Amino acid sequence: MSAPEVKDDVATAPSEKRAVTMEKIVNLCKRRGFVFPTSDIYGGLGSTYDYGPLGAELKRNVKEAWWRYMVQERTDVIGLDSAILQHPKTWEASGHLKNFTDPLVDCKVCKHRFRADQIPDPTKCPDCGGQLTEARQFNMMLKTFLGPVEDSASVVYMRPETAQGIFANFANLVDTQRVKLPFGVAQMGKSFRNEITPENFIFRTREFEQMEMEYFIKPDKTEEAKWFEYWVEHRMNWFLKFGAKRDNFRYHQHPKEELSHYSRGTTDIQYRYPFGWGELEGVAKRGSYDLDQHANASGKDLTYFDEEAKARYRPWVIEPALGVDRAMLVFLLDAYDEDVVENEERIVLRLDPRIAPIKAAVYPLLRKGGQPEKANDVLMLLKKYFTVAYDQAGSIGRRYRRQDEVGTPYGITIDHQTMEDETVTLRDRDSMAQERIAIPRLVEELTSRIGWAR
Ligand code: GAP
Repeated sequence: MSAPEVKDDVATAPSEKRAVTMEKIVNLCKRRGFVFPTSDIYGGLGSTYDYGPLGAELKRNVKEAWWRYMVQERTDVIGLDSAILQHPKTWEASGHLKNFTDPLVDCKVCKHRFRADQIPDPTKCPDCGGQLTEARQFNMMLKTFLGPVEDSASVVYMRPETAQGIFANFANLVDTQRVKLPFGVAQMGKSFRNEITPENFIFRTREFEQMEMEYFIKPDKTEEAKWFEYWVEHRMNWFLKFGAKRDNFRYHQHPKEELSHYSRGTTDIQYRYPFGWGELEGVAKRGSYDLDQHANASGKDLTYFDEEAKARYRPWVIEPALGVDRAMLVFLLDAYDEDVVENEERIVLRLDPRIAPIKAAVYPLLRKGGQPEKANDVLMLLKKYFTVAYDQAGSIGRRYRRQDEVGTPYGITIDHQTMEDETVTLRDRDSMAQERIAIPRLVEELTSRIGWAR
């Protein structure tokens, strides 16, 4: 085996417990409309979640942050949006039908169910000490039927990863896009896994979203080592650039027995969740495994013509793969803070302004003297560029607190002076500093402070 290009720092990462708890995040998410349990009125549906108005905005911004950094601001990556339902042969060729399994065991006494690889003794129930059944391999793909007849010929699968839609389109992309190695194809969208043990809120669910990129390179070990290292570092930087804290991150290199069936080397970016260290994103060396498998199964030519070398070959792949929901959880956890302002405790989400669900809130100081009407004019002006809220209920301090709790970085107050000189106060969530600014300058000022107009 070649030397590891990315150091595993599991042993040196901090081990102390976090102050923020999952309970605090789950409560905040429910109370303020970030995340609701799916089918709440019917008692929920086994670890599936709906995103409320603020969650929907946060998700949109996290995806935007990824797309900008991975596609829009680069010249070597193109985007794709393939279907969730693919031809069933896709999953046969990709190896998911055979290998995408978890070992499932049941307790003969208390009937609880576990993943055999997640418990200390695969013969003894960790809950009651009872005897466990023999492990059986459980395929995690969700099935459905296409067309009116529910027979084996009409079975299709909900994709368990977005990646295969990229590999299956390789020839279409090479033929139509004039791409030159190395190049990447990125996509984001829903994936489905019939997880045996969904857990920890939106960390592991059965329906989730992924953001994945397949980076095609020359089939060469030196190239592979170079790009693997590049993407592991690049992905870590993305989290830090958008407000996550380096102390809560570490790298974990998969030992051979942990590797997925398609991978010949994987480094995880792990995060220190309140329930312990766990995977956040995986960067894998997929080699030409997927293109080889699909070329053999379909009989189609999935090679790339290298103009310089005058040679045809199937490129190798480096794949950074991240869950949107898991990224959201991490940004929420790292943003959560409690402090005291004017003798009052406040919860504040110190989200990076680019991913904060609401960018600014507009407040008339008084509900008279033309201030609400003026505040409404400012709201409508800003709404063309940003997601903006309006609040005129309660004291100004209370209104600030309400927005601090959901991470709104800026507050705009309309007061008696506004009615005289068309200026407002602009309050910063973190420093709480206030500045007077002319209304016509607001869009420019907010765009520059936030980092983009959205
Ligand atoms: N195409 C490679 C792939 O799917 P993976 O490690 O199985 O690799 C990639 O998944 C990422 O997707 C994970 O690092 C995680 O962030 C997210 N993910 C996987 N399973 C998930 C689940 N059940 N719930 C939420 N996110 C999940």
